[in-house]
Amino acid sequence: MFPRDFAWGAATSAYQIEGGWQADGKGPSIWDTFVQQKGRVFEEQNGNVACNSYQLWEKDLECIQQLGLTHYRLSVSWARLLPDGTTQHVNQKGVAYYNKVINDLLACNVSPMVTLYHWDLPQALQDQGGWKSESIVSLFDSYAQFCFQTFGDRVKLWITINEPQVCAKCGYEDGIHAPGLKEPGTAAYLVGHNMLRAHAKAWHSYDSLYRAEQRGAVSLAINSDWFEPLRPGCNEDVAATERDLAFTLGWFAWPVFVTGDYPQIMRSAIDSQSQKLGYSGSSRLPSFSKDEPAIFGTADFFALNYYTSRKVKAGEGCGQMLCLNSDRDAEEVLDPSWPICGVSWLAVVPHGLRKLLKYIKDTFNNPAVYITENGFSQVGPRQIDDVQRCEFYSDTIMEVGKAIEEDGVNVRGYFAWSLLDNFEWADGFSVRFGLFHVDFSDAKLSRTIYRSGLEYAKMIMKYKGRHDVK
Ligand code: GAL
Repeated sequence: MFPRDFAWGAATSAYQIEGGWQADGKGPSIWDTFVQQKGRVFEEQNGNVACNSYQLWEKDLECIQQLGLTHYRLSVSWARLLPDGTTQHVNQKGVAYYNKVINDLLACNVSPMVTLYHWDLPQALQDQGGWKSESIVSLFDSYAQFCFQTFGDRVKLWITINEPQVCAKCGYEDGIHAPGLKEPGTAAYLVGHNMLRAHAKAWHSYDSLYRAEQRGAVSLAINSDWFEPLRPGCNEDVAATERDLAFTLGWFAWPVFVTGDYPQIMRSAIDSQSQKLGYSGSSRLPSFSKDEPAIFGTADFFALNYYTSRKVKAGEGCGQMLCLNSDRDAEEVLDPSWPICGVSWLAVVPHGLRKLLKYIKDTFNNPAVYITENGFSQVGPRQIDDVQRCEFYSDTIMEVGKAIEEDGVNVRGYFAWSLLDNFEWADGFSVRFGLFHVDFSDAKLSRTIYRSGLEYAKMIMKYKGRHDVK
């Protein structure tokens, strides 16, 4: 089922695991600031120490080896490398840390996939307007180029930005993630726009300056649920489903993979809502300028983060609110047959992944796809014998196999979220996604493999082994 060079991976991100928030010259990031504000995170927890991977990296490497991973997806912390966000000042200790991580991985035959931005903007750049300001585009490009220059001789898979949709909506519309702004209906579109431009500029830099020598591949990680109309025969539900897809997957995938511009459905929904509410001025969804580097074609593969599915019905007719949900005008419901794991948003729907993969193949011209995140969470007391998560992984991997074999989707890899239990953003340490349990009450932060970790290791061995036999 799985190609010989299939990437079997697990993923983490810097702020969620590293700790060492002030160690060795690291600058503060927007998450360091956000967690200090009252009421932002479950029980006022923070990632100051997290899994302490900054000091305990070798323990993580043992976990990676125990699973038999061929790939490991990590993110580098912008503020650890460039404390004020600019290349004016490089923190050599940060460079040394990631050099060690990358070299150790390669020495163990594990390929790194490196994310440049997993939500932890240097605070110094936020103070100058952050993602809302146009200047971020060049700043991000300089940072990306610094990383290509420094690590690109060894890193061959790059993700520029992780989940721009979540970043824009949760950080600037809902205010539940850093930087905690609530500017509904406008800021998220602007932030998303600058993220796309920053991503594209960095991709062009890689393409023209580094690709020939380094021979790597660059993309951005796009999150999407799978959406289906609640009543398939109902035109309003079908239209609402298309809108929902456009506002999630399409927002970032359409410009990069199809037209260089936002989905028309999205723009007309936003503009007609603006008109209804008497919002004057230019469209709340910015436009790309012809003088800028093209957005279309700026991904060497499709990086998908998939967690769950939704049934969709027509919304209540946009209401008087100027916000993303009103623009989208779709109501999401859960199918009662889908089990919920841990957190309320996470319905377990492995077959939704297969459908989404087929949709991506058909809509985006059959790209190579890496599933860069997918996982199952646990809350409450420690449960090492996580039978349900075992089932989840085996069902999901089966669906990925069917997508490859029966639907002909060009899936190149699968990364479980996450290697370790870690700081789950606003949920703090209360929600556990790891293949390894981390004991946050123990100073040693000991890592213990869950049963699901053992099962995942067996699956990797089995699917890799099949080829060895052939
Ligand atoms: C993703 C995010 C990860 C992780 C995961 C589980 O949206 O990229 O950092 O937190 O969700 O909720």
